[in-house]
Amino acid sequence: MFNLTDGDLEKSILSVADGPASFNAEGTRLGYRIKSIDPLYIFTATQISDRFDQVVDNVIAQVERTPDDWVWTYHKSPNGLRKNREQAKQLFCADFERGKDEGRYEMGELPQLKYRDGEFELGLSSHFLFLYSDHFDETFHLESIREMLRVCQEVRIFPLLTLMLQRSPHLQFIVEKLEKQGYKCEINQVEYELQRGGNEMLRIH
Ligand SMILES: C[S@@+](CC[C@H](N)C(=O)[O-])C[C@H]1O[C@@H](n2cnc3c(N)ncnc32)[C@H](O)[C@@H]1O
Repeated sequence: MFNLTDGDLEKSILSVADGPASFNAEGTRLGYRIKSIDPLYIFTATQISDRFDQVVDNVIAQVERTPDDWVWTYHKSPNGLRKNREQAKQLFCADFERGKDEGRYEMGELPQLKYRDGEFELGLSSHFLFLYSDHFDETFHLESIREMLRVCQEVRIFPLLTLMLQRSPHLQFIVEKLEKQGYKCEINQVEYELQRGGNEMLRIH
C-alpha cells in the first residue's frame, strides 16, 4: 500500500486509523518502531474482535455482490480476503493489550493529534482518508492531513478512491492547498490493489 522500503521501516512510524490491523504487531516483532492510533482503541481486544465478527459476513457478502469492483491478485478470492482479514485481526488482538501497556496503541482521532511537532519520521494512513470522502468533507481532510504533517515529517495515504471507486473529490483541493504551503505531493503507484483502480497513494513531504 505504501511502497515501504527497508529504510522507511527503520523510521519512527505513526499509523493513523490503524483499526484491527496487524501492521504494529508484525512490525514490532521485526524490531520496527510503530505507534498505532484509532478511536476504536478505547475498546478492549474482545470488544473489537466481537464487533469485527458481527460485521464480517455482511462485508464479504457485499464484496461478492459486486465482483467487477475487485482485483484478486493478493487476496485471491472473497474467502481469501476474509481469511486474511481474520488472521490480521487475530494478530492484532493477541498483541493489543500488551501493546497498549507499551504505548504502541493509543486512542486517537483526527483531525487532532496529541503528539509533538515532527515527533514521527513517517505517518501512514490506509482505508480512512479519501475512502470515506462522502462522510468527511474537504475541510476535515485538509485539517487532518495538515495535523499529520505537523507531527510527521512525511505522510502517505492509501487509497485515493472512495467507496464508489471514484478518485476522491477532495484530492485535488488537498494537493493544491498543500503545495501552496510548500509541501511536495506525489501520487505514486503501489503494488497492492483490492478496489479496482485503487493502486495509488499520496505521498506528501
Ligand atoms: C476501514 S478501517 C481501516 C483500518 C486499517 N487502516 C486498514 O487499512 O485495515 C477505518 C478506521 O478508521 C477509524 N477512524 C474513524 N474515524 C476516525 C478518526 N476521526 N480519526 C482516526 N481514525 C478514525 C475507524 O475506527 C477504523 O478503524
